[in-house]
Amino acid sequence: MQLLVNIDHIATLRNARGEGFPDPIEAAKVCEDAGAAGIVFHLRGDRRHIRDDDVYRLKKSMKGVLDFEMAATEEMVEICNEVQPELCTLVPEGREELTTEGGLDMKKVFDDFDNRVFPKFKGSGIKMSLFLDPNPEDIKLAHELGADAIELHTGVFANAPDDKSRKKELVRLKEGAELIHDLGMMVNAGHGLNLDNLPRLIEEVPHLNDISIGHALVSKSVFWGLERTVKEYLRIMGGSS
Ligand code: PXP
Repeated sequence: MQLLVNIDHIATLRNARGEGFPDPIEAAKVCEDAGAAGIVFHLRGDRRHIRDDDVYRLKKSMKGVLDFEMAATEEMVEICNEVQPELCTLVPEGREELTTEGGLDMKKVFDDFDNRVFPKFKGSGIKMSLFLDPNPEDIKLAHELGADAIELHTGVFANAPDDKSRKKELVRLKEGAELIHDLGMMVNAGHGLNLDNLPRLIEEVPHLNDISIGHALVSKSVFWGLERTVKEYLRIMGGSS
């Protein structure tokens, strides 16, 4: 299991004043030096946080895993192929949403991904990951499409209003992870994870590989600093420090 830090909100803070700071690439380096295995960034169509220049600078500066999160638009497919990250995570993207609101509906996107998107990545060496709710039907279709990894959407678990619904979602995540693993794909997870809910997820959900965390980690770092915050997440995940 490894930690990938989503640095979108470092860019959000930078963009709030139109200055060059805080620099998301400087933040990414601190995360990597503190032991994070990699960096996630979501280049959105509206460029509300990460911008094109950040992506190219990340590629030049980072040693670890780069996870390029994006909607499957022609523009993003082209940029991603040029940047050559280790991992490309396809997500649904809505203009009005504050953040990614749910997993992909595989029945809806299958033909488009099969005919237009996946062929463009064939032979690129980029691992293709799909952000999905833990629905067996979606997971099976992702496998049929040839996905290398599934990132399980943990938002429903993270925002569960009570323990009963949290437990119910954990069962779905556990069964989803088992199915993904049995089908030979990598199990990733992310959305809404924090220092309080991460231990429970790790305890209940098997085969976890990449854990992608952004908002809560960056928020905590305002008080603790990025280095200490990353190290605390790693400690919880059973890693170093
Ligand atoms: N994974 C995906 C696919 C996401 O869209 C996001 C949010 O950008 C995250 C992980 C990280 O979620 P959070 O910011 O809540 O940690």
